[in-house]
Amino acid sequence: MRAFELVTLLCLGLASSTYIPLWKPWTKLILTHHWPETFCTMEHCKEHYKYWTLHGLWPNIGIACNSSWKFNMSEIQDLKPDMDKYWPNLLHPTSAEFWKYEWHKHGTCAATSESLNSQHKYFSKALELYKMFDLTGVLTKAGIVPAEQNYQTDAIEAAIEKAFGAKPKIQCVHPSAKAEQVQQLGQIEICVNSDFKPIDCEKSEDDLWSRVNDVLLYRFRGVRGFSVCDLNMPVHYPLPMENF
Ligand SMILES: *[C@@H]1O[C@H](CO)[C@@H](O)[C@H](O)[C@H]1NC(C)=O
Ligand SMILES: *[C@@H]1O[C@H](CO)[C@@H](O)[C@H](O)[C@H]1NC(C)=O
Repeated sequence: MRAFELVTLLCLGLASSTYIPLWKPWTKLILTHHWPETFCTMEHCKEHYKYWTLHGLWPNIGIACNSSWKFNMSEIQDLKPDMDKYWPNLLHPTSAEFWKYEWHKHGTCAATSESLNSQHKYFSKALELYKMFDLTGVLTKAGIVPAEQNYQTDAIEAAIEKAFGAKPKIQCVHPSAKAEQVQQLGQIEICVNSDFKPIDCEKSEDDLWSRVNDVLLYRFRGVRGFSVCDLNMPVHYPLPMENF
């Protein structure tokens, strides 16, 4: 009896702390960009890129909302050239698996809103936002370019906030050894409201969320993931590999 009660209590406790109300519509979308060169220091990449590429467009509510809504490449065939260029699968450039994964996990949740209720609407909106924000261009204009020298997180954040009028979330790969004093710039999130206008990203609230995404995405093999950059540690923005 006691054991039963304990189990029940544990279950209730777990349920209430991890429960995500799926019926609520999302209020925010997170457009996540990753810096391929940093990602590729952790994983074995086939291609290298000199610009930020898309990781995903994630609503703030819901995961894998409709498993019967299958990914269908034919529906976004016209977007393929842009998808290949701006939303590449860094590990398997010719595979559509990454897009399929993102559709099932996030797209089917984004699709609860009429503005994104088809695969074409979802993927084309992500590409449209990506091009409109032009993160690579914004950073370049602010003098923040891949380099040997390091940056401060503040400076990167200020440049992005100035361009969009909203705070991004900036994530780094943290050093594995205490002796290393530099973190690698890895991922930048820009958040928008349901009218697709930039709004502040909330660092702490979303942190676990993004980490969940990262962990699942590339079957992390015990490598370090991204988390919010440390304000007090220099940031390295690694140069893309040459001669590829
Ligand atoms: C899930 O997706 C299927 C296939 O597109 C659709 O017919 C169904 O209405 C969707 N269910 C919900 C709850 O949106
Ligand atoms: C995929 O989409 C195309 C174009 O909309 C459609 O003709 C085809 O029937 C779909 N395939 C599946 C398996 O739903």
